[in-house]
Amino acid sequence: MDAKGATAIKDAKSEGEVVLRGWVHRERGSNKMKFITLRDSTGLMQCVFSRDDFEGRWEEIDMMQVETSLVIRGTLRRDERSPTGFEAAVVDYEIIGKSKNFPITKDQSIEFLADNRHLWLRSRKMNAMLKIRSTVFGAIHEYFRGEGFHEYHSPIFQAVQCEGGSELFTVDYFGKKDVFLAQTWQLYAEAAIFSLEKIYTVSPSFRAEKSKTSRHLTEYWHAEMEVAWDSFEAIVDHGERLLKHIVKRVLEENREELAVLERDVSKLEPVVGRPFVRMTYTEALKVLKEKCGIDVEWGKDLRTVEEEALTKLYDVPVICTHYPKKVKAFYMTEDPENPDVVLGCDFLAPEGHGEIIGGSGREPDIEKIRERLIESGEDPGQYKFYLDTRRYGSVPHAGFGLGVERVVKWICGLESIKDAIPFPRTMERYRP
Ligand code: 4AD
Ligand code: MG
Repeated sequence: MDAKGATAIKDAKSEGEVVLRGWVHRERGSNKMKFITLRDSTGLMQCVFSRDDFEGRWEEIDMMQVETSLVIRGTLRRDERSPTGFEAAVVDYEIIGKSKNFPITKDQSIEFLADNRHLWLRSRKMNAMLKIRSTVFGAIHEYFRGEGFHEYHSPIFQAVQCEGGSELFTVDYFGKKDVFLAQTWQLYAEAAIFSLEKIYTVSPSFRAEKSKTSRHLTEYWHAEMEVAWDSFEAIVDHGERLLKHIVKRVLEENREELAVLERDVSKLEPVVGRPFVRMTYTEALKVLKEKCGIDVEWGKDLRTVEEEALTKLYDVPVICTHYPKKVKAFYMTEDPENPDVVLGCDFLAPEGHGEIIGGSGREPDIEKIRERLIESGEDPGQYKFYLDTRRYGSVPHAGFGLGVERVVKWICGLESIKDAIPFPRTMERYRP
C-alpha cells in the first residue's frame, strides 16, 4: 500500500475511501472485532477491523500492539462518539514496523518517563507541548524580522563570563581549561550592533545551575536582542510586544493543543490585549509588604517566593525595573537619577511562573565597567574585545534575553520546565 498518498488524520473529514498512516495509540478487541486508535502527528482516528473481512490475517491483527506503525485503507463513516466525528472501517492494511511490549503504559513515575523520554515524546501531552513550542519559536523569528532586526550568531565557545562565573561550564579545549559554553550571546552582540544596529538570535545557552528547581535547566534556548541608539524603555516595550505576539500566535494556532494540556486559556487571553504591569523594584517591595505581608530588605534580590507572591496579584506579566546595582550584572547601566539602581528589568510571568525575560541598558562608561568587573573578581584584561566597543564610536544601546522554555512552561501551564523541552538537561540528567 502506498503510504505517501495518505491523508493526515485531521483532514480526514468526509465520508468515503481514505488511506491513513500512523501508529497504534490504543487497541482493544474481541473475538470478532479489533478497534485501533491510530495516531499521526495531527490527531487520532478510530479504525475498526472486522474478523469477517480478514479471516486469514486475524492472528496478526489480533496481536497488533501499541506503537505498531501501519498504513490502512478504509471507509470513513460518521461516528458521533469519535473525537474527530469519524471512524474508519478498515478494508486493507499493511504493517510497516512491529512493536512489542512498548515500555510506557499507564501511571508510570516521572523518573521512568524521563528515562524513556525518547518514547514519551510520542505521548499526546508531549506532542501538544512540542507543537506549541514550535509556534513560540516561529513567533519569535516573525516578531524580530517584522521589526527589521537581523539574525546574528555569537560563538558558543567563549573565554569570558557575562552572567556570573559560578555558573559556567568549562570545556576541555585541546587541554586548555579557560573555555566555557555560552551563558549568553551578549558581549558578542554588543560588538555586532556597530555593524548591524538591530540584531536578535535564538540559540542554546548553558548554565551550570546547581539549583534543582522547576525553572532551571543547564541547557536552554535563549532568544536575545540588542539594539543600538535605543533606550532602556524601548527594549522594555519590545519585550512586552514580543510576549504579546507569542501568546497571540499560540492562541491562534494551538487551541487544540492547549486543550490537550488542560490549559485554562482565560489565563492567557488578557496578556494579548492588556498592558503589562510596570513597577520599580522599590515599588515592588512596597506592594509585597502591603498586599502580601512579605518584608524584603532594600538591596536584596527578589527570590522565587517573592516573585511568586507578586505575580499572583496580576493576570498579566509584571515588568520590574530599577533593581539595586549590587544584585545585577556588571554591564547594566546606572540610572542617571539614582546611581544605586540600574536600568535593568525582569519580566515576571503570572501564576507564579516567575522571570521569563532579563534585560538592561548597557553601561557606556569604560571605567565603570572596569571597576565593576574587578569588584566581581574578573580580570578586565580578558575583556579587551568588549571594552573596545566603548573605545571606538560607542553609542547608547540596550538588550534583553528571553528564556524560551520559561515562556513555554508559562503558556502551557506546566509544573516543571523539564516538560517544556524534548530532552531536558539538569544537574542530574544528561541522558537519554
Ligand atoms: O537574566 P539572564 O541571566 O540575562 C542574560 O543572560 C542577559 N545577558 C540577556 C541579555 O540581556 N541579552 O537570562 C535571561 C533569561 C532569563 O530571564 C530566563 O528566562 C532565562 O534566560 N534563563 C534560564 N532559563 C532556563 N534555565 C536557566 N538556568 C536559565 N537561566 C536564565
Ligand atoms: Mg535574570
